[in-house]
Amino acid sequence: MIEMKDICVSFRSERQEKIFGVTRKQVLFDVSLSVPKGSCLGILGESGSGKSTLGRVLCGLLKPDKGQVLLDGVSVYGSRAGKRALQNKLSVVFQDYTTSANPRFLVSDIIGEGLWAMERREHRSVNRAEEIIRLLELVGLDASFARRFPHELSGGQLQRVCIARAVACKPELILFDEAISSLDTHTQVQIMDLLRDLKERLGLTYVFITHDLTSVTYLCDHVLFLYQGRVTEQTAVERLSETKDEYALRLLHSIIDFAEEEAPCNCAALP
Ligand SMILES: Nc1ncnc2c1ncn2[C@@H]1O[C@H](COP(=O)(O)OP(=O)(O)O)[C@@H](O)[C@H]1O
Ligand SMILES: [Mg+2]
Repeated sequence: MIEMKDICVSFRSERQEKIFGVTRKQVLFDVSLSVPKGSCLGILGESGSGKSTLGRVLCGLLKPDKGQVLLDGVSVYGSRAGKRALQNKLSVVFQDYTTSANPRFLVSDIIGEGLWAMERREHRSVNRAEEIIRLLELVGLDASFARRFPHELSGGQLQRVCIARAVACKPELILFDEAISSLDTHTQVQIMDLLRDLKERLGLTYVFITHDLTSVTYLCDHVLFLYQGRVTEQTAVERLSETKDEYALRLLHSIIDFAEEEAPCNCAALP
């Protein structure tokens, strides 16, 4: 459904302004990936590896220096129509749900933003109150939440509201950038269960950016390892144990070591 080919991105370097032109720092090096319809691709890497930059290129916000983003074969940055097609099909959920939800908005207004985008695209209006209740129930919240403000919700509840807003505009593809990373482990699992359920019910395609390998194995079909702006490994999650990639192995072993320290566990499933 969405494909990236040989993406390179560089930013103007902050420090070294040379006399002859400005130096640039490259953060993505020939990154290629492909996300088939109905699948979930995990993009995994440590902080600063270029994950969010890749996410911004993917969702049409940052034109790469080189390379192409193709949505159903149409170049996103090649034409205005390409970008519009992407905007119509894609929603984004960020880590920082506290700033991505306006604190002065009621939950009904926050979800209403997504509905508004859908109404504008489809040139029709819906019964807002009914739709908002339906969407709240879809993400596991009851109708009473519609009249609350963000500060009256827990982190997990607010992220559910952001997810409701993301699905309100009827996307085909959702990009999650560290969407569950600031939640506690128990809430993370609940939200991942919700995301799995929504994916099945609504026939969605996901790109899931994270620094956490455990959530990738829980949610994704494929995983791409990004290390210092380069793809070091790209594999099906069920074949992770066969990886020879050094960086992937380091991450895998850090999880096993942690699990062994925490409690004696059955780590037979991991390499
Ligand atoms: N707008 C920007 N201008 C300059 N440098 C940037 C910009 N955005 C990101 N970077 C740099 O690009 C690198 C990758 O950042 P980012 O994509 O946010 O990584 P991640 O999401 O994996 O933590 C970092 O070194 C960061 O400082
Ligand atoms: Mg990031």
